Formats: sequence, C-alpha cells, structure tokens
Amino acid sequence: MSDANKLTSKEVVDITRSTNYGTWRFQRNWNPLHIVDAKDCTIVDGAGKEYLDFSSQLMCTNLGHKNPAVVASIAAQAEQLAYAMPGYATTARAELSKLLLEVLPAGLNKFFFTTSGTDANEAAFKIARMFTGKSKIIARYRSYHGSTSGSIAATGDPRRWPMEPIGGKQHGVIFAPETNCYRCPIRHTYPACGIACADYLEHMIRNESDVAAVLVEPIVGTNGVIVPPDEYMPKLRRICDETGVLLIADEVMAGWGRTGEWFAMDHWNVTPDILTTAKGITSAYVPLGLCATSAKIGAFFEDHYFAHGHTYEAHPMTLAPAVATIHEMQRLGLVERAAELAPYVERKLQELKAKHPSIGDVRGKGLFWAVELVKNRATREPFNDYTDKIAGKPLVVDQIAGKCMADGVIIQAWVSHFVIAPPLIVTLAEIDRGIDTLERYLAIADALVEADVEPLVELATTSSATSDS
Ligand SMILES: Cc1ncc(COP(=O)(O)O)c(C=O)c1O
Repeated sequence: MSDANKLTSKEVVDITRSTNYGTWRFQRNWNPLHIVDAKDCTIVDGAGKEYLDFSSQLMCTNLGHKNPAVVASIAAQAEQLAYAMPGYATTARAELSKLLLEVLPAGLNKFFFTTSGTDANEAAFKIARMFTGKSKIIARYRSYHGSTSGSIAATGDPRRWPMEPIGGKQHGVIFAPETNCYRCPIRHTYPACGIACADYLEHMIRNESDVAAVLVEPIVGTNGVIVPPDEYMPKLRRICDETGVLLIADEVMAGWGRTGEWFAMDHWNVTPDILTTAKGITSAYVPLGLCATSAKIGAFFEDHYFAHGHTYEAHPMTLAPAVATIHEMQRLGLVERAAELAPYVERKLQELKAKHPSIGDVRGKGLFWAVELVKNRATREPFNDYTDKIAGKPLVVDQIAGKCMADGVIIQAWVSHFVIAPPLIVTLAEIDRGIDTLERYLAIADALVEADVEPLVELATTSSATSDS
C-alpha cells in the first residue's frame, strides 16, 4: 500500500474504537493507544513515543518483544506446515511435548493444547468431571480463570457477576475463601491461623457431595499477586488426596518463569493433577494454551471417550513458537534471572513503602509483584473496591497509571494495586526507571491518605507474610 493510502494514527484509533469492543470496560471512555512496534521491554506508539512495558502487557510477554528466535520459528513453521488437523501428529507437536516433560512439574505428562488460558481451563473442568464422574468445582473468591462460560463461572472476582446466574449456577462451581494474609477473608492471622483457609476448604469438601476438583491460582495474579504461605499448597495437596478430589493449578499467569521457578507450584514441590497455562508459553507471540494432566488421568482415557476438541487444537503455528520460547528461556537462563532479580525488586518496593503512606503492602515472587494502595494503613481500607471498578468510577490506581503512561511507563493497575511484572529480560536500569516513575505519582494517593495513619518508621519494617524474603 502506498503511503498516501496508509491510515493515520488517529484513523487507526478511531476505526478501532468505533468498530471494536474494548474489553472489560464501559466503551465510552475507551481510547486505545496505537502501537506500531515493540522490541525487548519497549513498545512504540504511532507518534514514535517509546514506553517501558513494565507489566509485560498482560503479564505475558515474558521474553520481551521481537525475540528473533521466536519470530523466526513462526516464519519457518508457516513455510513448512501452517495447519494440520488435531488428529495428526506433527514435528512441532512432538518437540513441544518432549520439552514440556522437561519443564513442567514432574508427573504431568499428557497434554491437550488450546488457544487461550480460558479454554485450557474449560478443558481442565471437562477432564476433571469425566475422570471423577463428579461435577462440582471448588474455586476461590479472589481469582480469575477466564471469560468463557465455564471459566467465568469459576472466576471469583466480580467479572463473573454479569454472567450470573447462567455462568455461576449451571456450572456447579462453589467458592471457598482465598488465602490472603494481608486481608484474610476469615480474619485470621498468619502463622497463628495454622492455615485455617485450607481447613475451611477441607470442611467444604467434606460437607458437599459430588466435588470433582479444587481450582487454584497458586499465586493469584490479576487479583493482587497473592502469594500463599509456604504451608498452604502442601496442605491442600494432602486434603485433595485424602478426599479423592483433584487439584487443578491455573498457571496461566504465574507460569513460565514469572515467579522465579518454571511454575509457581515448583516453589512448594507440589504437583497438581491438572495444570493449565497459556500467556508466557509462547511469550504471547501466538495464542496457545495448555492443559497438562497426570499419567493417571491420561491412562483413564485409554478406555474412556475423551469428549473434547477444537479445530485449532495442537495448531502447528502455535506449537513451534512455544518450542522456540522454551529454548530461548533456557539459553538466556530467564527462570534463574527472575529469581535473582527478585531481592532487588523487593528491596526497591519496600523502600517505596517506607516513604509512601498510601502503600499498604508489597508482595510477590520472582518478577511478579503487587503494590497495594490503601487509604489507611491501620484499617487497610483501599481507595477503591470492585464495586467502583464495575461501576466505571475513576480509580486512584488508574489515575496514577495514566500519569506513568504519559511519562512513558506502562504499568497494569487493578482496583487498588499495581502489578509489577516486566519481561524477564528486564535490565536493572529499566527496573529503576519503572519504579521511579511509579514513585513520582504516588503523591496523588499519599495526598488522599486519611490522617490517622500509623507512623511510617514502624511500618517500614513490617513486611507482609506473603512477601519473598
Ligand atoms: C490465572 C488466569 N487464568 C486464566 C486466564 C484467562 O486466560 P486468557 O485470557 O488467555 O483466556 C487469565 C488471564 O489473565 C489468568 O490470569
């Protein structure tokens, strides 16, 4: 196309805005940024302005942008074999399956490929129900598992509400309190609680009939980068084993080195019966999801009908870039890098907390951190809650994220916290720039803090039970 016919940036935005839906929002104030290029941790808009991608887009571009090996793998696969129906074997499929056996928690060795995180979860629910012959899934309130019918029904956060009762009730999902040591839903305090949230979950299983599986984000993502205490996951594994209920770990966001291990479950050496993932599996260059199951579940389907499939299951164009992504992560040592950079990020964020009364908590692992804002550190009351979010009210975190963006740093904000999750190739200078930019605008929140805050000095030494140390 000649330059004369090329769309201007304004036209691109106007056409997109008027003809497409903006996700999870009121449409009226959607003003999408026109992105034209991206390399490593930097993205470029239509006016040539550069931005630091400090949350890896949607916590997914773990390798950074335009990794040459992954880009080349997409071109090579397109030339070789752009599509094959799921009933066929392909080289990309076999190569990826072999690599998955290397990197997934040991014991997960039978795979179903999807094209997103939500349909990886849909597959997990169907597999769990077919395998157990039971129907209920116990999920947790502070969670997000995807937007399609089953996954949104299993989502604890209010993105589920517009879909109820269709989504919530028909799919046999019930909700347990999450583990959240900063804001415990059952008002206990770690470690004196003895992980009462897991005991409550066991109580639910034992008092319900027909429970097929418990579904957890091992480290809750969008809903606050909530890291459970170390005892939680082994205890949950034991409860599931004793009650004959499957454990499903949704690692769509927490997987692929993000937390300093290949998978978050590796932090506790716990293997779930089913692990779902997506996002970082191809560094989000192409849409791929995975539902990985144990050998026991795999064996069951040798003689039982596997009632699931998609036209795009095991699509070669999605699998080849996953092979390249894993090779690149291994070559660059990115899982180790995320673990090595964690103390640096934690120290910087704790310093931020010491200076800014609006920060209630910082927590995370690897290169996956939340900075949570509160009106009042003593009461831990946030500036905004979910009802503000779904009512489309202006949020304090959005105001700050908007200022950061104007200064060339993109940080994801969600209700009352920021998610710090840069690509795993991020440099120290980029970490400094991202956190310094956030700091510049925290004054907006500090000014709204209620007067009766606890003294800063005392709080600076108080780290959440869920933080990495
Ligand atoms: C933990 C978790 N599960 C599932 C999903 C859904 O994945 P997708 O958007 O690829 O459908 C997400 C998306 O953010 C997620 O964070």
